[in-house]
Amino acid sequence: PEENVFSYNGVLYPVVLCSPETFEALESFEARSDDVLLAGYPKSGSNWILQILNDLVTADLKKNKEALEERVKYEEKGDYAFFEFGDPGKFERIKKLPFRRVLATHLLPGCLPTSVFKNNAKILMLTRNPKDVAVSYFHFSNGMPLLPSFKTWDEFFSAFMCGEVVWGSYFDYMIEWNKHINNKNIMCTTYEELKENLILGVKKITEFFEFSLTEEELQAVVDRSSFQAMKENSHRTHGTFGNILFRKGAIGDWKTLFTETQNQEMERKFEECLAETKLGVKIKYKEYCK
Ligand code: A3P
Repeated sequence: PEENVFSYNGVLYPVVLCSPETFEALESFEARSDDVLLAGYPKSGSNWILQILNDLVTADLKKNKEALEERVKYEEKGDYAFFEFGDPGKFERIKKLPFRRVLATHLLPGCLPTSVFKNNAKILMLTRNPKDVAVSYFHFSNGMPLLPSFKTWDEFFSAFMCGEVVWGSYFDYMIEWNKHINNKNIMCTTYEELKENLILGVKKITEFFEFSLTEEELQAVVDRSSFQAMKENSHRTHGTFGNILFRKGAIGDWKTLFTETQNQEMERKFEECLAETKLGVKIKYKEYCK
């Protein structure tokens, strides 16, 4: 077994980012009904949508100067937005923040604190087609020293297909979240949908979370979140990992690595696990994976 990962409830996590203590502390975290939550399997575009959500909250707060100042102070502290990252004490620090908290996670719904569902916190669920996720994850795993690396794409592909990657199986992830798809506090969106019409996607997100922004404010959020803009700014937002994180930002890059055999294996797995599910239909597999 790799030294830089540990297993929690049967799923692998990187030791530098996560710890069993933080997972335990998370269990008693009290979600609020005004929380802004983002859920997505790794490499689905979480950092992109996280910036958008943060910008929407900031713009929405313009009416409330004090809260806005508090939020700027909080952002400077750089507390991790991801539930599963950082030290266990962070939940206590974010408990009483006087503004809508933007929180993200790659965890399965069953690993979230029960208060998320009990207290009706709203969740934006972000998905991406499995082929592009796999290719993005392969490059990311090899670029990030904190994660297990893979000698070849073939080796990574096998690990991805059987869920032996950090945060576990893409397919289990989709199957588990699909069980919540009719929950009115959950909105599903896809990487591809946002890529093709970001302003429309951001408007839907704004309505779902009930933010009130002017057209100009919305447009400014969208402009700031283009791949180019985020990549250029990435040394400030993500330090040395910026270049690894903002890699290509495109649909269909899977074609650069998938062999025909791997393609068929993915087709079979998708048919078997997801084709009939609502979430499976939502990701328009046939359109983006042909
Ligand atoms: P690629 O590796 O295919 O380029 P996550 O943030 O969940 O780790 O996802 C990372 C993926 O989202 C990367 O995909 C990255 O390039 C892409 N991404 C990041 N910012 C983006 C943006 N503003 N527009 C489009 N894609 C973006």
